[in-house]
Amino acid sequence: MTTTPSSSPSFPAPPADEGFCEPAFGEEIDAEATLSPVAPLPPGSWLAVLGGGQLGLMFCQAAQRLGYRVAAIDPDPAAPIAAVADKLWTTSYQDDDALQAISELAQAATIEFENVPYMALAYLAAHMPMRPAADSVSIAQNRIQEKMFFARCALPVAPFVTLRDGNDLLSSIPKALFPGRLKTARLGYDGKGQCAVATFEQLGDAFRQLGNVLCVLEKQLKLAREISVLIARDAQGNIAVWPIAENIHRDGILDVTIVPARISKAIAQSACDYARRVVEGMGYRGVLCIEFFIDTQDNLFLNEMAPRPHNSGHHTIESCVTSQFEQQARIIADLPLGDPSQKTPAVMLNLLGDLWFPESNSTTPREPDWNALLADSNAHLHLYGKKEARRGRKMGHITICAATLDEALHTARRLRKALHLPDANAL
Ligand SMILES: Nc1ncnc2c1ncn2[C@@H]1O[C@H](COP(=O)(O)OP(=O)(O)OP(=O)(O)O)[C@@H](O)[C@H]1O
Ligand SMILES: [Mg+2]
Repeated sequence: MTTTPSSSPSFPAPPADEGFCEPAFGEEIDAEATLSPVAPLPPGSWLAVLGGGQLGLMFCQAAQRLGYRVAAIDPDPAAPIAAVADKLWTTSYQDDDALQAISELAQAATIEFENVPYMALAYLAAHMPMRPAADSVSIAQNRIQEKMFFARCALPVAPFVTLRDGNDLLSSIPKALFPGRLKTARLGYDGKGQCAVATFEQLGDAFRQLGNVLCVLEKQLKLAREISVLIARDAQGNIAVWPIAENIHRDGILDVTIVPARISKAIAQSACDYARRVVEGMGYRGVLCIEFFIDTQDNLFLNEMAPRPHNSGHHTIESCVTSQFEQQARIIADLPLGDPSQKTPAVMLNLLGDLWFPESNSTTPREPDWNALLADSNAHLHLYGKKEARRGRKMGHITICAATLDEALHTARRLRKALHLPDANAL
């Protein structure tokens, strides 16, 4: 679904100041969204990306298919993007020389992950269009700012409190938050940077385990499903929304994505409306993914957002007219938004490094047997070219497309068994 800009909704007054640094967002950025269309960057132009993991790799491939050249910065010489980038600086994101060189070469820039230092984003933004904007990224870098932003937009989040340091444990913490989850405000991913806390008494240990850093304590919800909405907004304020994805996690890491999500029309409509309010409220430009919880009472809660393409959107490469990575390139190159419609139902299976260690005690990685997978032309294997398989590390994914969702699920179960992935029947 693509739509043209609508007027920004009005939001209630922000919650009482919690003492955290509030990024500026809103008017300034929205002013840019009213600009008249500018000429698209012609093929052959250079696009810059900060970060060269699998998301940078797939962005690069999509941008190159549109005819662009891609310049990247990543500190890791073995970063997946190294195999395909037209130019790569293997250095820190705060390397002035690299930032200067890339800003002289490229005409527009984006990011592959949200934890790029603000200074690097601001540097590139001073030289070329940077999408998403540094201020939007900084909201998504911090769970507290993110939740406060959602609250400011009058959007529902799981009940939570913020905990600044050990002294906060002495203050009264609502009993209703237990059992809960303590999550670091910054740098959490794939279930890292959080732990379960059954009772108030466990909170001190949990806080120490996470390094005594700024945290949120969030109520543990009884989840019926998890879904995500992938949404894109261009510099003129046009919006494109992909079909909603249903996500199944194992050990805090995304395991399976099923699209379209098996949810009611009413929930789907609310999730899309909420996502639209988020991008319009931020004056966002770029691809954004919002993760939602649906509890057993059918209540919908926003969990977190990623200001970039997302693992739950990898299926778009084969199953949608325009992939999330192509859309990212289109937005920074000022091309019209691509059509996000789904061509076929899809199931995406993540491939973690565990697959390379078939026995629980094995220490030497072994290449999985891909034969069953490669024999099926509806199953698309993506390997990210990471040199070393490690347990819990995202090594690749498979997207299975089929005429019906039942058929895609059936194939997914069969291939999970063939690859010895766990819980084949849980889908
Ligand atoms: N309040 C909660 N109630 C129930 N389950 C939760 C809650 N918070 C997190 N989870 C579970 O843990 C998973 C990971 O949590 P969350 O998305 O907050 O962290 P993350 O590590 O930042 O994840 P990501 O890899 O998506 O960035 C969720 O997808 C969900 O399965
Ligand atoms: Mg998450």
